[in-house]
Amino acid sequence: MSAMRDLIATLPDQLRWAAGLDVAAISTSASEALVAGMGGSGIAGAIAEAVADEAGVRVTPHRSYGLPGWAARSRPLLVAVSHSGNTEETRDAVESAAAAGLDVAAVTTGGWLADRAESAGWPLVAAPPGPQPRAAVGYLSGGVLRVLEAAGLLPDQAPALREAADVVERLLDGGSGPGPALAGDLAEALEGRVAVIYGGSGAGAVAANRWKTQINENGKAPAYWSEFPELDHNEIVGWTAFPDLSAERMGVVFLHVPGEHPRIALRARITMALIEDRAGIAGEVHAQGEHLLARLFSLIVVGDLVSVSIAQRAGVDPMPVDIIEDLKRRLAAEET
Ligand code: F6R
Repeated sequence: MSAMRDLIATLPDQLRWAAGLDVAAISTSASEALVAGMGGSGIAGAIAEAVADEAGVRVTPHRSYGLPGWAARSRPLLVAVSHSGNTEETRDAVESAAAAGLDVAAVTTGGWLADRAESAGWPLVAAPPGPQPRAAVGYLSGGVLRVLEAAGLLPDQAPALREAADVVERLLDGGSGPGPALAGDLAEALEGRVAVIYGGSGAGAVAANRWKTQINENGKAPAYWSEFPELDHNEIVGWTAFPDLSAERMGVVFLHVPGEHPRIALRARITMALIEDRAGIAGEVHAQGEHLLARLFSLIVVGDLVSVSIAQRAGVDPMPVDIIEDLKRRLAAEET
């Protein structure tokens, strides 16, 4: 079993850890939040956005330097999430927020961000250390959700986190559950193909994005994602070109979330029927669970397993991401 597969198996414990967190009330007048984070940490902001949307609260993921132009006027709570605590875009967003006088909170395992939060007296959720940010998605997204709850922006997140843990645990079932079996079939269908992941706007799109990035980083393969209904207004036309390439070298996976807009489910069905002769269809996955968070994680865990199975089939180690480390070193060596 690969070390990354072992880390995926810790996802239920990560979610239960977050359910058990006791984050002290955060005093803020903010009525919305901006979650600054990149890559395997940044997905926590997208997860929080989907959860908060259902609660009628605006949470915006921020995956870049500085702050969006509206932040100075709307004055969101800035939640910085970085596994290492050293990611330059996130550091820059934090310093921009501090300079603008925004309230700031942090979720990290350490590094610059933990030091900065401690010296400024900002609320800090200290996530347990681990080898890779993307394998800590339960700690990081759970930590962000509990921070938003402590700031009075979200209701109690513990029940949803516990349900997510239970759903993921059932899917994994010690490695012999339905999740690994489904993931194995999908990885086989995707072998030698560029994966294209489709989900409905909201939770389905967050999961599709996570599948893509996990196939990139763990599977070391190109992958792309897109969301309904927008893809029906442009991307669908692209499948009319390169019929041989599309049929033999592309593999589309459809992610479905119960409770999504019925027209989105219908669009997915019609889209699949329209493109199935041209694009290789690798399969479909249906989310499980009652809370949106459980549904999201039921898709995330299958995608994570697909990505390690793709790595296994290609004979690559899912764990290291040397090219990202190399890029970060080169950036650190350059002054701008
Ligand atoms: C590595 C990974 C990356 C990092 C990203 C930001 O597993 O997934 O996408 O998450 O480079 O680094 P951190 O998470 O330390 O802020």
